[in-house]
Amino acid sequence: MTGIKGKVIALTGASSGIGEATAMHLAERGARLVLGARREDRLTAVVDRITAHGGSAVGIVVDVTRRDGLKRLTDAAVDHFGRLDVLISNAGTMAVSPFDELRQDDWDAMVATHITGLLNGIAAALPVFRQQRSGHFVNVASTAAYVVKAPQGVYAATKTAVKVLTEGLRQESGPDLRVTLVSPGFTNTEGVTKGGSPEVMAALIQQRDAIAMPPSAIACAIGYAIEQPDGVDISEIVVRPTAQA
Ligand SMILES: NC(=O)c1ccc[n+]([C@@H]2O[C@H](COP(=O)([O-])OP(=O)(O)OC[C@H]3O[C@@H](n4cnc5c(N)ncnc54)[C@H](OP(=O)(O)O)[C@@H]3O)[C@@H](O)[C@H]2O)c1
Repeated sequence: MTGIKGKVIALTGASSGIGEATAMHLAERGARLVLGARREDRLTAVVDRITAHGGSAVGIVVDVTRRDGLKRLTDAAVDHFGRLDVLISNAGTMAVSPFDELRQDDWDAMVATHITGLLNGIAAALPVFRQQRSGHFVNVASTAAYVVKAPQGVYAATKTAVKVLTEGLRQESGPDLRVTLVSPGFTNTEGVTKGGSPEVMAALIQQRDAIAMPPSAIACAIGYAIEQPDGVDISEIVVRPTAQA
């Protein structure tokens, strides 16, 4: 038995990258998973890999920017497994660009995914956790919540908001709940290939290929926070590749 085995864990952004690696890591340790993302084919592939190895997972197509999306995710946990032990809010978009390019759709997406999406998760899971008198929020921010580097102003602002909301939630959570912030540095995922300024994207891909750490490093950090005894709250973890300044 570990502190992960048997836990019912809902996870957003599970269709690729850090979310996918975290789902595999937790499934290998006996968690029962409810996985959310928008791309049904990618989500189904992750669920199928887990179940093919004897694990337990269901996939729910959700858009975290919509309130009903997160509610469907947490409802699925309770419907399928009778409870919800952990909500990992990991969905994110790294569409970074200089302000002068006025990429307002990308700005809106980062605000909606990181801030509204996180709040939607809190609203969906908190009543379940209160009723159970136990539960754990794990929120994925970024080293950009600690150091602002141009041209990542909007991304850094939304990830700083994740950090602030997480600390505020922790202070209000009381003795029964746990709240953890996990902040990755450069991680080798497809995240930097999905939008933003083409020049910035090309530079980030080059930097990723030179220094990024594997997503399993973040999966392990999330697993470490979850496996602690009930009364122990790992409040904040920052994980960087050694080569990242
Ligand atoms: N990679 C890095 O260097 C790095 C560093 C620091 C922090 N992070 C953070 O780590 C998290 C995961 O990113 P990643 O690197 O693993 O990139 P990724 O492979 O692109 O993963 C992002 C995940 O979020 C999902 N997603 C995005 N918008 C969504 C929405 N509106 N509703 C539901 N799901 C949504 C995506 O799935 P669908 O497209 O299928 O919905 C995907 O599963 C993000 O919060 C990111 O900001 C990454």
